[in-house]
Amino acid sequence: MRVLLINGPNLNRLGHRDPAVYGTTTLAEIEVAFSARVKERGAECVCFQSNHEGAIVDFLQSQIPNGIDGIVINPGALTHYGLSLRDALQDVGAPTIEVHLSNIHAREEFRRHSVIAPIARGQMTGFGWRAYLWALDYLIDEIDKD
Ligand code: DQA
Repeated sequence: MRVLLINGPNLNRLGHRDPAVYGTTTLAEIEVAFSARVKERGAECVCFQSNHEGAIVDFLQSQIPNGIDGIVINPGALTHYGLSLRDALQDVGAPTIEVHLSNIHAREEFRRHSVIAPIARGQMTGFGWRAYLWALDYLIDEIDKD
């Protein structure tokens, strides 16, 4: 079982960027915790972050030949307008969980709309970094059932 963890623009700044909103945990720490949980669950993962939408699309396409069983993604601001990212996720067709550290529905109006949500299995928003791990557990439990 192979899972991708993808983080979009500005999430490389986690731990430093607006800690009152996004917390003090860094992306490196999240990737270590995620990879450890993946290993515990007997799966494999690849972690990827980019500030560029096209680079994320390229990454997704590059992973297709290796097999993609599930995706955990925090698309950052691409959530709100990233149509080529949405198309690429839809093309891959693997169950996808959209994660946000902050509660996007309790913030500015422009953050309330997600172009990713309609093609995602579900969305976790407002629970901080642990939601990446909960999303992973959900995916592995669901994939195991199939
Ligand atoms: C975010 C919410 C987005 O609106 C924002 O652009 C981000 C982070 C979150 O994790 O809460 O970069 O996805």
